[in-house]
Amino acid sequence: MEKFVIKGGNRLTGEVTISGAKNAAVAVIPAALLVEGVCRIENIPNIQDVSVILEMLVKLGAKVQYINSNTIEIDCTKVESYKAPYEMVRKMRASYYLLGALLGRFKRAYVAMPGGCDFGVRPIDQHIKGLEAFGAKIKVSHGVIDASVDHLKGNQVYMDVVSVGATINLMLAAVKAEGITVIENAAKEPHVVDVANFLNSMGAIVKGAGTDVIKIKGVKKLEGGSYAIIPDQIEAGTFMIAAAATGGDVLIKNVIPKHLESITAKLIEMNVNVEEYDDAVRVWRTKKLTKANVKTLPYPGFPTDLQPPIVVLLSTAEGTSIVTEGVWDNRFQYVDELKRMGANIKVDGRTAIIEGIHQLSGSPVKATDLRAGAGLVIAGLMADGVTEIHDLKHIDRGYEYFEEKLSSLGADIKRVKE
Ligand code: EPU
Repeated sequence: MEKFVIKGGNRLTGEVTISGAKNAAVAVIPAALLVEGVCRIENIPNIQDVSVILEMLVKLGAKVQYINSNTIEIDCTKVESYKAPYEMVRKMRASYYLLGALLGRFKRAYVAMPGGCDFGVRPIDQHIKGLEAFGAKIKVSHGVIDASVDHLKGNQVYMDVVSVGATINLMLAAVKAEGITVIENAAKEPHVVDVANFLNSMGAIVKGAGTDVIKIKGVKKLEGGSYAIIPDQIEAGTFMIAAAATGGDVLIKNVIPKHLESITAKLIEMNVNVEEYDDAVRVWRTKKLTKANVKTLPYPGFPTDLQPPIVVLLSTAEGTSIVTEGVWDNRFQYVDELKRMGANIKVDGRTAIIEGIHQLSGSPVKATDLRAGAGLVIAGLMADGVTEIHDLKHIDRGYEYFEEKLSSLGADIKRVKE
């Protein structure tokens, strides 16, 4: 077991380069199951979630080769198994992508219900409803989803809730289905577009990704090729908020500024300076932070995955701020940890009311999930004194070289064995 020990108070200054997007990588990798031939994927982040999904593919029979630390080649030609039992999938929520990918490939998928971060009920009814519309027979029993179909047939599917996972899963199942698929009320997140671009670069015909209607014309075959994953919107947002939190001045490179607009707008509202360049943003702060109200929403709204970091930032902003969680039922569990550092926050259901205090004070806390962990790291950087963050395994799932990147910006952060 390891922990971070952070001595707060240092301003972050300098330049940092953002890695490939976790939530795109964990979908593009299983999408390779649909491809006959070698997929070369660049800008793969070196994080635990990627290792876990690659391990699943290897267990299914894929050949995975690292060309360098961020480029892999995946060859799924020899995969014969359509079974992903609980021991294989339990470590990661995104293993539900195996369902669409295996069904698309074998017309059969046997995938255990996944694990992952726990912030409320995480149903998969929309995934199932869509796959059934393509003709699949689905049985859910003993914690396993067993799906089979003779011929996958494209269809029109209206999603009752905007779901990233269901949108991507249906794209995976539909690219080789017969005829036309239309996904309405689709998620528009950058990683949804990235998966569509990956599939198209392998020969699929997916149009409209990034809007709420995605149209897919089924093709017989996808062939190997090369693809580079987009930069991670959430990692970039985390560094933007960390720069603002420490009154720093950071140039955040390898980003798509358009993906960061909701964050940029909120930071400017809070008295932070943000300047956009073609593929970088500079964030710096000279004035006191002021209150803001934030509601998390599907893209292009403010991302739920940056809700903990923005709550941390608002905890020392002048005035009373209200943060409403618009995506998950129960994503404020970490607030109790933040309160141990002196934050004055009241949570009522999906709303947090934050009374800004002068400064957080360092204390031992634990990361309750990935993004909560990132938020607590930012809290440690702003706090007076020493903060210890336990349960690093959550943070390691999704941030590449987190402490190295923060140290290079001047943070005093160390990974220590417990
Ligand atoms: N939902 C349903 N039915 C479904 C699917 C979802 O009701 O069949 C509901 C969920 O309960 C939730 C909302 O729809 O209230 C949105 O869920 P979504 O399916 O979009 O979430 P997800 O695909 O499971 C991805 C990210 C999460 C991120 C959410 C929302 C990946 C691997 N995970 O999860 O990222 O919070 O979208 O943007 O892409 C993270 O990176 O830390 C993380 C948790």
